[in-house]
Amino acid sequence: MCGIVGCILKNNEKVAPILLDSISKLEYRGYDSIGIATVDDNKINIKKDDGNIKEVNNKLDLADMDGNYGIAHVRWATHGDPSKINSHPHTDENEKIAVVHNGIIENYLEIKEQLLNEGHVFKSETDTEVIPHLIGKYMDKGLDLESAIRETINIIEGSYAIAAICKEEEKIVATRKNSPLIAGIGEKGFFVASDSPAILKYAKDILYPEEREIVILTEDGIKIKDEYDNYIDSEIIESKIETIDWTPEMAEKEGYDYFMLKEINEQSTAVKNTLTGKEEIKNIVNELKDEINRICFVACGTSYHASLTGKYLIESLAGIPTEVIIASEFEYFTNALDDKTLIIFISQSGETADTLLAIDAANKTSKTLAIVNVVGTAATRKADYVIYTQAGPEIGVAATKTYLSQLAAIYMFSFILSDKEYMIKELEKVPEYIDEVLKDTSSIEEISKKFKYADDFFFIGRGYSYPIALEGALKLKEITYIHGEGYAAGELKHGPLALIDQNIPVVVISPPGENHKKTMSNLAEVQSRGADVFAIGSCDDDFLISKSDDVFCISPEVDELIAPLIYIVPLQLLSYYVAIERKLDPDKPRNLAKCVTVE
Ligand code: M6R
Repeated sequence: MCGIVGCILKNNEKVAPILLDSISKLEYRGYDSIGIATVDDNKINIKKDDGNIKEVNNKLDLADMDGNYGIAHVRWATHGDPSKINSHPHTDENEKIAVVHNGIIENYLEIKEQLLNEGHVFKSETDTEVIPHLIGKYMDKGLDLESAIRETINIIEGSYAIAAICKEEEKIVATRKNSPLIAGIGEKGFFVASDSPAILKYAKDILYPEEREIVILTEDGIKIKDEYDNYIDSEIIESKIETIDWTPEMAEKEGYDYFMLKEINEQSTAVKNTLTGKEEIKNIVNELKDEINRICFVACGTSYHASLTGKYLIESLAGIPTEVIIASEFEYFTNALDDKTLIIFISQSGETADTLLAIDAANKTSKTLAIVNVVGTAATRKADYVIYTQAGPEIGVAATKTYLSQLAAIYMFSFILSDKEYMIKELEKVPEYIDEVLKDTSSIEEISKKFKYADDFFFIGRGYSYPIALEGALKLKEITYIHGEGYAAGELKHGPLALIDQNIPVVVISPPGENHKKTMSNLAEVQSRGADVFAIGSCDDDFLISKSDDVFCISPEVDELIAPLIYIVPLQLLSYYVAIERKLDPDKPRNLAKCVTVE
């Protein structure tokens, strides 16, 4: 929800330009305010305000701050409006300490009340502000920054990734619980951050601190204390360092207007990369196959839609009973789980709070597998087995290439599980088909001009095309703020048909296959109620072309089983171009953040 960075540079180099650059790479995590704090000459300097990074930087010149260590924050407001006073970093009573925080302190009201009774004065409405006040209180009793943070995290409840500086100690101290935090070792210095794109340019060697470990960055290196407050041996720390192979360019727009468009165009490469994971998937399937008699997918949002496709595939190809549960609802279904159930968690970020809590619950009874894009994240450490989708960093808030990579991994898993490994050959053609769709998107740009005025949309599909309809509708809602509803094509007549008239465009997804004829009847149903139909189907389908008001033709012809991997691309583009027509920033939809680290 928010993004944090901390950095200490060797050789007394000025840290503020690097903090600004790094925190800018986390703008997908929050964009309603930004702040930076550095220490110089035994004094804490803070520049912060509400607004996006560009606006605030134009006003405050954030890189112009002295000091070789500091912290930075981008905010996605939860407690208190976006405002200068609520922006991070927050300080203690004596402005000796500054803190940035991602997460939610659930018991902040009780703590605040107690601190108020003790005479503390608060400036903001945030939950975060209790943290520097508590740290300050313990430091006033004689503790150093590390020990004061340990005392503080023994009191606060909820989720947090915290980085703190103190004007009297040349270090950054950070810790986490239920929120992501990585530590990076670079040539120029040492880092902590919410996510790797922040530091890709400066540090490739990454550590993933465990919950409640205390990370201490000084000019000389990184030390970590375990949750019992003992220093972890430096050899053990070194053995845990992972080198990331993402390049800084991967997190840049590289000539595209928006990350979302860049990421849509990277989808064929993303799928190719996912397909290189075949052997790992085979090993996992071989280990689990005879041990399970039921599968349960758990995920949120777009990852939930990828999971639904998994149900269609596994039940029809492998005949294994499979269900799909929204992660935030999972706790209500845990009674019927057992050790013969494989629970598959899908998450591009690997840090979604709802999904992580579900993994904890599932680990008590069942085998767990996480399909994740970001290496080393909490989901990968919690689950028994991991499949990496290898889509590369995704910066746009709307999931696009990570969704296709999730699908590719789920398809491979399902084919191998059902002893139909030969079908992977079909998947190998998918990157070429995606590029074919992307060759000429001008017709979608045109159609978006017409549809930008709509207030409501329906997306309909049957069988494998139903989850695509749901995902198309989610993309539309998310980045255009137009209401979009995905429906099983056959279910429309059981209620929503009452809404259909000439003001509601209906997107019909109908690849060639068994379901095509039935979907065509549903197309006729909406058309006879006056709906404007935008159909996505095969170029060879004269009927679909003649019946629809607008059509996007997919060539070469792909069967409905493989179609989700290709037919989603025009739907992503439709949302993208409608957002552009409506003058909205598709990378930063209002109220949303890339990684949802609160329940
Ligand atoms: O990182 P995850 O895949 O766990 O995220 C789940 C959802 O929050 C995410 O897919 C969300 O729905 C996207 N913004 C959709 O584009």
